[in-house]
Parts: sequence; C-alpha cells; structure tokens
Amino acid sequence: MACPPETPISGVSPFLLTEERAYRQWRETKLAGRFLGPERLMVPVGDPEHLSEAERTALLERVSRCNMVFYRCTDGGRTMDRGQVRRFAAALGLVRLDNNLCSEEDGVSELRVSPDGPQAEYIPYTDRPLSWHCDGYYNPPHRRIRAMLLHCVSDAPEGGENAYMDHELLYIRLRDENPAWIEALSHPRAFTIPPNVVNGETLRAAQSGPVFSVDPASGRLHMRYTARLRNIRWREDGPTRAAAARIRELLGGDDNPDILRYRLRPGEGVVCNNVLHARTGFTDDVGGGHQRLIYRARYLDRIAGT
Ligand SMILES: [Fe+2]
Repeated sequence: MACPPETPISGVSPFLLTEERAYRQWRETKLAGRFLGPERLMVPVGDPEHLSEAERTALLERVSRCNMVFYRCTDGGRTMDRGQVRRFAAALGLVRLDNNLCSEEDGVSELRVSPDGPQAEYIPYTDRPLSWHCDGYYNPPHRRIRAMLLHCVSDAPEGGENAYMDHELLYIRLRDENPAWIEALSHPRAFTIPPNVVNGETLRAAQSGPVFSVDPASGRLHMRYTARLRNIRWREDGPTRAAAARIRELLGGDDNPDILRYRLRPGEGVVCNNVLHARTGFTDDVGGGHQRLIYRARYLDRIAGT
C-alpha cells in the first residue's frame, strides 16, 4: 500500500501555519487522493467478522486517502449484531469504545426513533434531520472521539440519507481562503458547549475547546464541530465568527464537490476517522414494522495505520 497521504515526507506537521512547505506537500497528495462520490469508497466484504487480507487492505487504503470507507456485507445479504460490529471494528484497530448516556452496556448505541424515555430528548433518536457535526464535540479532551462506525440494520421506507465530508478537505478550503481562520479555530476556547443539566443534575460540565487541533497521539488533524445554533457559544471574535459562518456556508451549499451523500441500506455501513457528517429526516412505517435502525459505535482510537 502507498504511503498514506497524511504522512508528510519531511516529518514536519503540515498543520502548523508556520510550516507552509509541509502543508503544500501534504495538501497536494491529499487532493490527488480524494474520491468524488461514494461509489469508489464502497468495499464489499464477505464475512465482516473474518476479513480477508485483501478486504482489510481495501478498507484501510480508502480510509488512508479519505478518512472514511463504506462497506457492504455480501454474504447472503447478512447483517451484523452488536457483538459482530465490535469484532469487525476491532479488526480495523478500533477497540476503545466511548460509552455515552444512551449507549447500551457494550458501548454500541441503537439509533432508532425512541418516542419516550431519556433518549427521546436527543435528536439522533428522533426522525428529525441531524445537522453537520463531528461526534463527541461536547466531550472533554481525554475522551476525544477519533473514529466512529455506523451500521445499517434496517433503513427507513423514506429518507435517512447521510452526508459526509472529510474534515481535512474542509481544513484545506479554509486555510487556502484565509489562514487567519485556522488560527482563530485553533484557539482553545473557539467554542463552548454549555453544561447538560437535567432536573438540576449536571450530567455533563460545560466544555470549551478548539475546532481544529493536532491529536497528540497520532499527529493527525482532529476536528470538533457542530453546526447547531442553540446551546453553543462561539468566541466573541471577528475571525472566529467569520470562519464559523464560512464553514456553515461550505457545508450548506449543494455545489460542494467534497460532500458525499449516501443512504445506507441494510447490511451496509461506514467506518471513519470521525469525519463531518449530517443526516436528513426520515419517515418510519411503524404500523408496517419497518423502522430505521442503525448501530453506532464511537471510539477513542483512530483506524489502524491511517
Ligand atoms: Fe454523529
């Protein structure tokens, strides 16, 4: 397999604004390796629990280029249970699961419409559209979500398409347009998520942090972002506000060639280094027993070797 595009030959971080040469070199390789459209990012896998070397290489090669890969279970159209999802992910180096308030005990969440109970408070558990974000934007730095997996058990009769954008491509757009935006978005208090308080009990403290940071564990670019407008405080600073507005514009337009749109079908899924993603609304057929169900697993690890 070729050297991943994110590895600068010089060994100098391309994500430092002072390292223009390393950035140019990394940028060129990154742009040359991208795929425009989801088709070439789809890898058929026979038995996801026992990947062949060729399947594993095909999956990792796409993640190296684009930070994400789609897979399709082809063995008789089989899908996976939660244990199989965990073992499939482990073969790609994803082991340390992040448990959140709504995940099952094994750390894998079942995303489906939950009309009552505490989950109903959270948009992923409704049929409403989900705006652009990276997972875990409210997590403290020691619980940084570096990768996540979505596996489709059943799709909705209508809607439920996801959109994805490699956060490194967004970084390139912003840095090329105005490096001062990168500086503003790298500030340790670029935005703050207020605490999550339910019935007077603080379930999660307020969390400030940068949008872009270099992950100390890997030297790779990490993005922390949500497009939500409520329950978020952006830093009161001209470049920060302008950069946030530009991100919304780039993600909101229909003419951004780096946005991949794909509607997962049963037995299909996506594994990614926590790229930007969003979801359209959908309509279940509850009476007909046809409801969207997605398994979601979030990891503190990055995908192996990427
Ligand atoms: Fe998400």
